[in-house]
Amino acid sequence: MLGNFTYCNPTKLYFGKDALDGLNQELPKYGKNVLLVYGGGSIKKNGIYDKVVAILKANGKSVFEDAGVMPNPTADKLNEGIARARAAKADLILAVGGGSVCDYAKAVSVSVNCNEDAWDKYFIRFEDVTCDIVPVGCVLTMVGTGSEMNGGSVITNHAQKLKIGHVFGEKVFPKFSVLNPEFTYTLPKYQMISGIYDIMSHILEQYFSGTDDNTSDYIMEGLLRSLIHSADIAVQNPTDYEARSNIMWIATWALNTLVAKGKATDWMVHMLGQAVAAHTDATHGMTLAAVSMPYYRHIMPYGLKKFARYAVNVWNVKSDGKSDEQVASEGLSEMEKWMKKTGLVMNITDLGATEQMLDGIVESTLIMDGGYKVLDKAEIKQILKASL
Ligand code: NZQ
Ligand code: ZN
Repeated sequence: MLGNFTYCNPTKLYFGKDALDGLNQELPKYGKNVLLVYGGGSIKKNGIYDKVVAILKANGKSVFEDAGVMPNPTADKLNEGIARARAAKADLILAVGGGSVCDYAKAVSVSVNCNEDAWDKYFIRFEDVTCDIVPVGCVLTMVGTGSEMNGGSVITNHAQKLKIGHVFGEKVFPKFSVLNPEFTYTLPKYQMISGIYDIMSHILEQYFSGTDDNTSDYIMEGLLRSLIHSADIAVQNPTDYEARSNIMWIATWALNTLVAKGKATDWMVHMLGQAVAAHTDATHGMTLAAVSMPYYRHIMPYGLKKFARYAVNVWNVKSDGKSDEQVASEGLSEMEKWMKKTGLVMNITDLGATEQMLDGIVESTLIMDGGYKVLDKAEIKQILKASL
């Protein structure tokens, strides 16, 4: 049965080849000072930076820059960004990049007018926002996280060996996001497939939970089928617009809060992956891929019916004359084959993790209780060991 919920998603999307023109409609709504936030320079190489700056200037904006947002943005960089946004008296923060840049922009936005330490307040104490925020807009260049249409913000603290996400409420969602699939063509294959697996994991971690008849599960099966189909095309031909635009749209729907409404969600693969990243700084989607098969094989007996349904409805496994266990196992084997074919990283050793790190990674793993099995620390260690 669907539980009670409130649903609101305030982010306005501009999608397609002309999506950047949407900035001309959005920019007049905000004051003169724009803090342009971006990463390590990909947008300068592929020309997106020049296009964005030209539109900002044409709209009479004073542009202040905050560059060098790294993948897995850090608490130290966040403090730098807060100082820059204050110095600029930013009226709008415009994030141009992937999930790291969008997440970081949101973390800056909720901290500019707050005198407390942002890491402690939001990522250790998980407090609500109590100050005025600076609005955020996004121009997305990397697909996967869903950050373009949600309130999520993930920050890493290397000194504390923690990578933590805060899911902020709707006033922190980007006010608008520009989604042009062509902006993702220059992504290296490693990043493209990492993003594809991030999308898959977002869907699976909302799917593998609950035993009720829930419409969200049917939506997610459709999203997964479309994702697998388009990913196969994009791996062969990265400039196939149809495939890249489908992947971009699926990513948004996978984590814009809709499919989680009224049902339980798991999120343990993300907790494991984030703990691995806290110790290795590895690419987000790959950390999820590397722990997924050991995790799903471990919890499969506790959610057998759903795993069997997944095998049939997503991986086309034939169920005639087979036990649920056989069908479910075949589904996971099909998924594993597809992951290897796609080129995903299948173990944490390849991401720089070692056996000596395991106890530390266990300590960095937050335990969630919405899935089929609430793990204890011994099980987490067992899963991580099987992921080496
Ligand atoms: O920094 P630049 O030079 O721009 O290079 C980036 C970066 O090295 C590059 N890139 C991005 N767009 C490109 C491009 N290279 C060439 N052409 C382009 N068009 O790609 C690299 C990775 O970028 P990043 O933003 O780090 O990737 P992603 O979008 O996967 O974001 C990862 C971050 O998002 C968090 C992750 O934990 C991680 O910190 N997440 C945020 C979520 C949310 N807000 O809800 C949920 C997710 O589960 C995830 O946890
Ligand atoms: Zn993710």
